[in-house]
Amino acid sequence: MTTLSDIPGLTTTRAAFIERVQGEGRLYIEQPYELYSEENHAVWAQLFARMQDRWAKYANHRFLEGLATLCLDPTKVPRLEDVNGFMAPLTGFRAKAVSGYVPAYLFFDCLRQREFPTTITIRDGAVLDYLPEPDIFHDIAGHVPMHTDKAFADTLVMFGECAKAAAERVSLIADEREQVAVLTSVIKAMARFFWFTIEFGLMRGTAPGELKAYGSGLLSSYGELAHCIESPDVQRFPFQLEWVVNQYFEIDHYQPLLFIVDDFDHLFAEVERLITWVREGKLDHVSPGEPAISEADLRSFLVAARAV
Ligand SMILES: [Fe+2]
Repeated sequence: MTTLSDIPGLTTTRAAFIERVQGEGRLYIEQPYELYSEENHAVWAQLFARMQDRWAKYANHRFLEGLATLCLDPTKVPRLEDVNGFMAPLTGFRAKAVSGYVPAYLFFDCLRQREFPTTITIRDGAVLDYLPEPDIFHDIAGHVPMHTDKAFADTLVMFGECAKAAAERVSLIADEREQVAVLTSVIKAMARFFWFTIEFGLMRGTAPGELKAYGSGLLSSYGELAHCIESPDVQRFPFQLEWVVNQYFEIDHYQPLLFIVDDFDHLFAEVERLITWVREGKLDHVSPGEPAISEADLRSFLVAARAV
């Protein structure tokens, strides 16, 4: 029988190294670069090569500048150390290797400290187009080029401040059931905001009526990057906070609804409003529905609230 330890490489859901460190309870890990197989590097090369034309056409110019700054090797899975060597001097952000899902508070708190939890495995070559979990292509080629931009980096830090504001607010509530109810709503609102901006955001381009992508879910998807800009089936509306925090989303198909920000200063201002709304209790009862908030997410915020 083939076991995980017989399979070489760091392939998503089939990496013996990841299984081992998860078994040891380690979330923050190193990137054991020597474990990447030739196939892993070939998948990176294939993904990276086919995105070039799409990025040139549909990505916002900050992303393109960031991509050039990072000097990624088109033929090899990137070393986080090299990426950080280019990125950290610009905005202080660093990619931080993780073994899997990072509970919500810890994730946002990493952002507050200018650390970006980064998946180190890469998808199987047989599923280039869709995978439900992030991989290093999504995290490094989709997210990280934006982290070289100061306004965008500052916006990510504000998500961390927002999580902190939520923990502080909940620390003032005595009843634990009420704490959980409020947190479930606030985390849902934050997750929706993050989804419709950092993951799937659109931004106005320089020409009248032009739209560009800045969300990493779009920028790391060959099919959806063209679809999100070109397709008549996608609804595109100016970003509206009241709407976004109440809008459910599903992760297993192209997004039918996207929101447009003017620029990163606009996005920053909206996260500031989000923080104000957390403090004022305006997010305590957002519309139910996706995303579901896990026990681990709730617990991470409750632990933070107790430490306030
Ligand atoms: Fe992402």
